[in-house]
Amino acid sequence: MKTNQNLLFALLLISGGLASCNSSSTKNTAAADSVGTSTAGLKIPDSAAFEGQVDNKKVHLYTLKNQSGDQASITNFGARLVSLLVKDNKDQPVDVILGHDSLKPYQGKSENYFGAVVGRYGNRIAKGKFSVDGKSYQLEINNGQNTLHGGFNGFYKKVWDAKQIDDHTLELSYLAKDAEAGYPGNLNVKVTYSLEDDHSLKISYSATTDKTTVVNLTNHAYFNLNGAGDKTITDHMLTLEADGYTPVDTTLIPTGKIEKVAGTPFDFTKAKLIGANINDENAQLKNGKGYDHNWVLRKGTGLRKAATVSSSKTGIVMEVLTEEPGIQFYSGNFLTNDINNGKAGATYGYRSAFCLETQHFPDSPNQPSFPSTVLKPGATYHTITVYKFSVKK
Ligand code: BGC
Repeated sequence: MKTNQNLLFALLLISGGLASCNSSSTKNTAAADSVGTSTAGLKIPDSAAFEGQVDNKKVHLYTLKNQSGDQASITNFGARLVSLLVKDNKDQPVDVILGHDSLKPYQGKSENYFGAVVGRYGNRIAKGKFSVDGKSYQLEINNGQNTLHGGFNGFYKKVWDAKQIDDHTLELSYLAKDAEAGYPGNLNVKVTYSLEDDHSLKISYSATTDKTTVVNLTNHAYFNLNGAGDKTITDHMLTLEADGYTPVDTTLIPTGKIEKVAGTPFDFTKAKLIGANINDENAQLKNGKGYDHNWVLRKGTGLRKAATVSSSKTGIVMEVLTEEPGIQFYSGNFLTNDINNGKAGATYGYRSAFCLETQHFPDSPNQPSFPSTVLKPGATYHTITVYKFSVKK
């Protein structure tokens, strides 16, 4: 019965008829694989390939749907977004997220953090050192001389507790123990994914601690609006709601300055091709091997627009809204052609995806002039990011 429902769902989705499909979704239990391969390399993730046991905890794949025909697949291993199917200008579903077809490759020694929630501190902390409440802490050094995305075993490698609230909402929680990966405090983290009917994927993050600590959570999805597996993102148009960015040293640690983007390759105040200036002679671009920097978003309160990206091939437009002060625009410069275990056998190469990671600025714990990432007992960390999709016909 369940298999029949999934078969029906897959067929409806492939033919673009999901909006009329009313079948309710819970944790995937049937192998959609046998029915899921379709046009244009689109493959509905096979939930059976994500069933597993890691650190004595069960791993599953969960599916979210909305009334508008979009679908998101999320695994509780690393709280990762595995696929996100949205409609293109021909009303066909396109998977805009890079990733793998099964759990195993996500467990490998991957430095790519595909689709993951990264933490306890997203992005870099210089030499893995910081002090809070007069005590200094040493984190794991996993990126040159620095700590990146929480260390070797950050939140992206943990099995989160999952609760599917309804067919469009998944709640994930994780308790990061005091001293885990070197950070102080037991940190209770909750991340809620919800796929809204207005074609948006909303991610709400919250956390509390029992000792003063630092927190910076984000999602590390790699997007290609031409469809995952397409060769490049340099043909996408990008706008960033930012007049400044934080320049970095050769190890990608911010210098502490905020530079104006005007007159530089970092100016995305008006829609511009990602590839327009990416290969310019510029010391900062050289440090990142392309774009891999934090933009300082225009100040405002609450949820506000941070970025707009579009593909002329599919007509897909993605807006990013956030409550965070910064956004890391990373143009996939460290993706190399040896990632040959992508979805449906795809190879993911150099600049074949981009990340837009809403965040507090990198290395904030060591940069007194940056907005603070300190969380104290009694306070609640809370932030929302939304990826909203539409099409240009
Ligand atoms: C960083 C890049 C890094 C990538 C990991 C991004 O958030 O800014 O420098 O290579 O994550 O794949």
